[in-house]
Amino acid sequence: MSIVQQVTARAAAKVNLELAVGPLRPDGYHELSTVFQAVGLYDDVTVTAADEFSCVVEGRQADEVPLGEDNLVVKAARRLATLHDVDRAVTIAIRKDIPVAGGMAGGSADAAATLVACDALWGLGLSKEELCAVGAELGSDVPFSILGGTAVGTGRGEKLAPVLARGTYHWVFAFSAEGLSTPAVFAECDRLRAEHHGPGASDPELGQSDVDLLAAVRSGDAARLGAALRNDLTDAALSLQPSLRETLEIGHECGALGQVVSGSGPTIAFLASDHEHALDLAVALTASGVAADARRAHGPVAGARLFSPARDS
Ligand code: C5P
Repeated sequence: MSIVQQVTARAAAKVNLELAVGPLRPDGYHELSTVFQAVGLYDDVTVTAADEFSCVVEGRQADEVPLGEDNLVVKAARRLATLHDVDRAVTIAIRKDIPVAGGMAGGSADAAATLVACDALWGLGLSKEELCAVGAELGSDVPFSILGGTAVGTGRGEKLAPVLARGTYHWVFAFSAEGLSTPAVFAECDRLRAEHHGPGASDPELGQSDVDLLAAVRSGDAARLGAALRNDLTDAALSLQPSLRETLEIGHECGALGQVVSGSGPTIAFLASDHEHALDLAVALTASGVAADARRAHGPVAGARLFSPARDS
């Protein structure tokens, strides 16, 4: 019997259809109410049996990804090995297509794919729920990267409830030349709130996820979803990267059904009415020169899964 030495897994990017930010908790995280959707931009992660843990990165913005113990994929593999008494290591090769520091959960997707790949390589046979529990220790968005589809997230984003979504949405993502740090955007959100409401003001309340947004997702009505998109981190992202205002305006002028900062930004997500409209939007955004790049992707798509580069490409 041959022993498997190498496994590849693929994980998708995400967009937050809604991101309501509540109070800052004592542990440094904000209470959230969010609706995630997995979209078809992917990173592939290949784990290979090795004597020591390490990682290498290729593809889009590869030089901006931290290597070694600082990379979330190494932490993910180590954590899984420790929890399940695995006395083996892996070299992790990441092929990036999801923007780095773009608000699309690129690092979380890589960690999710690593957990799925190592689970298979080491023959652990863990359930999605078990992998999500390990993922939650690594980062708030990792459980959703494992689950995929469309889901409501609460807590710091790691408590998930799947949402039935009808139809396929056509998204266009405008990438920025410079990334934004997630902690910096949350901190800016706190600063702006304190400035507007004054010190000692009561913390914002978190309501239920927007009823209209969830109804739109269930009905498959893209225009209704476009009108319901909402992100409480928008002002903070625009404050740190003012040029994003122009990007939002161009999408609006080109008839996007809706636009929203993706997660903590700086990527902006535009909802198009169909494939052709998405193509027009992407061309307009690229031609305008305000976005570094514009890419189309549809959603929802599956969470992290095993992938055979030769068979599935
Ligand atoms: O969980 P993750 O490591 O991805 O979070 C990165 C940072 O983003 C946190 O350290 C925190 O500053 C901020 N964050 C937050 N509230 C959340 C999620 C993230 O303030 N719910």
